[in-house]
Amino acid sequence: MERSQDNKNKIDLDGIIHCLGRIAATLREDPKQALHDLRKVGAEIDMKVPYRDGHSLRVTDYCLGIAEDLMFTEEEEVVLEVAALLHDFGKIGIDEQVLLKPRKLTEQEKNEVTMHVMRGYYMLAGFGELIEALKGVKSHHEFYDGSGYPEGLVKSEIPLIGRIIAVADAYDAMTSERPYRAALTPDQAIEELQRNAGHQFDPAIVKIFVKQLKQEKAKRGRKEGKDKAQ
Ligand SMILES: [Fe+2]
Ligand SMILES: [Fe+2]
Repeated sequence: MERSQDNKNKIDLDGIIHCLGRIAATLREDPKQALHDLRKVGAEIDMKVPYRDGHSLRVTDYCLGIAEDLMFTEEEEVVLEVAALLHDFGKIGIDEQVLLKPRKLTEQEKNEVTMHVMRGYYMLAGFGELIEALKGVKSHHEFYDGSGYPEGLVKSEIPLIGRIIAVADAYDAMTSERPYRAALTPDQAIEELQRNAGHQFDPAIVKIFVKQLKQEKAKRGRKEGKDKAQ
């Protein structure tokens, strides 16, 4: 029983890398198809790491919403989508006991988790076609005030796609249940984003994202009101 569970959660890294190579090669000629295939890879990664709950796909959708407001070109959108789908790729291979630990992590375990950024970067660095997207993978844990990792970049030194993923990533993490804490409500998570704007996050991105979340909430409220009235 244990063994079959183990196998189910085992990651076919060679298969994923092979698949990524194929996708990367078609990214320029047929970005739509490439992204479609990449979403499947993203879904597969989400089933294994970090919490098997669709994190990367949700983060990607949040990112694309923000990009729309920033009037990204189609090409820029493709780069962002690739980066968002692969942002936690480096978590593959981190000991699950650490990722799912219900208690505070030790320093060593913390280091292992933070290493996912550079690990992902190096695992994907062989694909020249992904080079722009890799900037987002590498910088999604940088803090706006320079206190993040891995390079301690400040404000606009952090690639824009990294600053976007950081906000979307944090919101999704906060609103998802984790083994060590309950999920925050969307309003609580928005408050946290706003509290950390200018420190952890780019305030301009937080502003855009919060506006979108509130619009979404209002839309849902109107729909629910209508449904009830019927
Ligand atoms: Fe991450
Ligand atoms: Fe993430």
